[in-house]
Amino acid sequence: MKVRTHRCGELTKAAVGQTVVLNGWVQRRRDHGMVIFIDLRDRTGITQVVCNAERNAAVHQASHALRSECVVSVTGQVMARPEESKNPNLPTGEIEVFVDAIEILNESKTPPFVIEDDAEVTESIRLKYRYLDLRRPKMQRLLSLRHNMMQAVRGFLNAERFLEVETPILTKSTPEGARDYLVPSRVNPGQFYALPQSPQLFKQVLMVSGVDRYYQIARCFRDEDLRNDRQPEFTQIDLEMSFVDRLHVMSLMEQMIVTVFREAGGVQLPTPFPRMTYAEAMGRYGSDKPDLRFDMPLHDVTGFAAASEFKVFKEAATKGGIVKALIVRGGAATPRSRIDTLGEMAKSFGAKGLAWLKITAEGQLESVIAKFLDAKAFAAALPDAKPGDLVLFGADKPAVVHDVLGRIRLMLGEELNLIDKTAWKPVWVTEFPLLDYSPEEKRYIFMHNPFAAPMDEDVGFLDSEPLKVRAKAYDMVLNGSEIGGGSIRNHRSDIQLRILDLLGISKDQAQAKFGFLLDALDYGAPPHGGIAFGLDRLIMLLGGAESIRDVIAFPKTQRAQCPLTDAPSAVSADQLKELRIKLDLVE
Ligand code: AMO
Ligand code: AMP
Repeated sequence: MKVRTHRCGELTKAAVGQTVVLNGWVQRRRDHGMVIFIDLRDRTGITQVVCNAERNAAVHQASHALRSECVVSVTGQVMARPEESKNPNLPTGEIEVFVDAIEILNESKTPPFVIEDDAEVTESIRLKYRYLDLRRPKMQRLLSLRHNMMQAVRGFLNAERFLEVETPILTKSTPEGARDYLVPSRVNPGQFYALPQSPQLFKQVLMVSGVDRYYQIARCFRDEDLRNDRQPEFTQIDLEMSFVDRLHVMSLMEQMIVTVFREAGGVQLPTPFPRMTYAEAMGRYGSDKPDLRFDMPLHDVTGFAAASEFKVFKEAATKGGIVKALIVRGGAATPRSRIDTLGEMAKSFGAKGLAWLKITAEGQLESVIAKFLDAKAFAAALPDAKPGDLVLFGADKPAVVHDVLGRIRLMLGEELNLIDKTAWKPVWVTEFPLLDYSPEEKRYIFMHNPFAAPMDEDVGFLDSEPLKVRAKAYDMVLNGSEIGGGSIRNHRSDIQLRILDLLGISKDQAQAKFGFLLDALDYGAPPHGGIAFGLDRLIMLLGGAESIRDVIAFPKTQRAQCPLTDAPSAVSADQLKELRIKLDLVE
C-alpha cells in the first residue's frame, strides 16, 4: 500500500501541480464513459478523483471495479477544476486529482444504507451496522466534538491543579437513586459487586486523602428507564474540591463550561449565568430545569381564585392548594377541540382538569366558567392577560399544578415556535430542598444524594421541620436540560448520620452500605464539595444532536440492548455453575 501524503478533506488550490497519494473509501463512482469520477472519503472529508482513459487507460479500466465503500489508495496529480465544475460547497471543491495509479486495498459488500448524512435508515439498522453508521460525516463530527470537549475539560482542570484519578468499576452500590447493575463474584460465591452509579463515595474519600482537587471523566451505570437523554451507561465529568463553599464551585464550573463550549464548539455562552432558587424555578416555570429560551411564566392567581365562585378554584385555593395561570398570547383563536386536547394532556400529566378562558377583543371573558368569575377582579389579578389571549389554569396541590403547567408550557413553547433555537440559556438552580416526602413509601427520600449538606441557617429545622431544610446543592441547567448537579457535602459524620437517620437509614445499615465513607469522615475530613456534568448531554446540546445515542460511539437501545454485539445475551451453563448461579426464570 502506498502511504498517503494528504487526507481526503484537506487538498486546496495550494496543492495544484503536486503529486499526492490519498487513501480512503469510495463514496460514489460516476461513470461518464471515458472519464470516471470517484468521490474518495476519509474522516476529514471528500476529494474528487478522476480516472481518465486518455491519461491512463489501465487506471480507467481498473476503476470500473470500484464499488461504494471499497478501500483504495490512489496516486495522482492535483489539478485546478475548470471554472464551471468548481463546487463551492466542498472545502476541496476547487481541485480534483487525476489518477496515475490505483490500488484496491479491500472490497466492500453493498452496505445496507448509503453512507450519507440524510440516508433513510432506521435506528436499529444503524446500530447493528454501527461501524458503517459512524462513517457518516455527521457522526464523525460528533465523535470529534466529544474528543475536543474531553480535551478542553482536561486542559481546563489540569491548569486549575486538579488531579485525574480513576476509581473502581467493580465496587459497592452508590446511592444515586437508581437501580444497580450487579456483577457476581466467582471467588466469593453468592456475593456481588455493583457497578458505580457515580464515583461519589470515592471522590469524597479522595478529599479525606488530601487529593484536594480531583476529576475523572467517569463511566456511570444506572439501571433505569431510558429516555432520549438517558443511557444505562453514560459519562460524567466528575469532580470534587476541598476547602470550598458553593460559590467557589459554582464560579469555577461556570468558567469551565464557558471555556469548554468556546474551545470545543466555538460557542460563547452568555455570562454570568443567572441564578435561581429551586422555589423560584418551580414557582415561575413549573420545573427545576427551566427552559429560559422563552418566557411564558406561570402566574399565581390563588387569591383571585379563593374569592371566585368557581368551586374547583375556590376549593383548591382555600384547602392548601394553589391556582396558577399560563397566558397563551393571541391564543383566543384556538379552536375548542384543541383546548380539549390540552385538557386531556393535562389529565395524562396528573391534573384533574385544565380550566381555560379566552379574552375577547372587547376584553370580555369567554369560557364555560366565565359566569363564576368577576372580570374586573380577574383583570386586577392577571394584568398581563390581554384581549386576544387564552388563559389556562391549574388548581391543585402545588406539586401537581407546577408539574402539569410546567409541562404544558414546554409543549406550547415547542408547538407555537416560541423557543429561540439559536439561543443559549444557562441557569444555576440552587437551594434545593434536602428532602422530599414519598407518600407511597411513607418516608423521606433525598432530593440530590444523601451526602449533600444542609444550609447553615436551616440546620435547626432538621429535627422540627425536615422538609423545610434546603441543601447546599446546585444544578446547572442549559436550555431546559439538566447538564450537571452537585453540592457541598457533610464533612462531619454526626450531621451525616443525622441525615441518614431522617432518610430511614439506620446506623447499622449506613455502616454496611458505606461505612468506609463514614469512617473516613472521622479522620480529619476537610470541608469539600463538587459536581458532576453529564458529558453526553453537553455534547448533545453543543452538537445539536437529537438523541443521546448519537453522541455515544456504541450506545444501547431504549431496551438497554446493543444491536451490534447483541449484548446482553445468555451465558453458558458452565459459566453459571462457576458463579454458583442457578436461573429460575419466570416468563
Ligand atoms: P447526578 O445524578 O445529578 O449527580 O448526575 C450528574 C449528571 O449526570 C447526567 N446524568 C445522565 N446522563 C445520561 N444518562 C443518564 N442515565 C444520566 N443520569 C445522570 C446529568 C446529571 O446532571 N454524584 C452526583 C454528583 C455530585 O453530587 O457531585 C451525581 O451523580 O446531566
Ligand atoms: P367541571 O366543573 O368539572 O365541569 O370543570 C370545569 C372546567 O374546569 C373544565 O374545563 C375542567 O377541565 C376544569 N377543571 C376541573 N378541575 C380542575 C383543576 N383541578 N384544575 C384546573 N382546571 C380544572
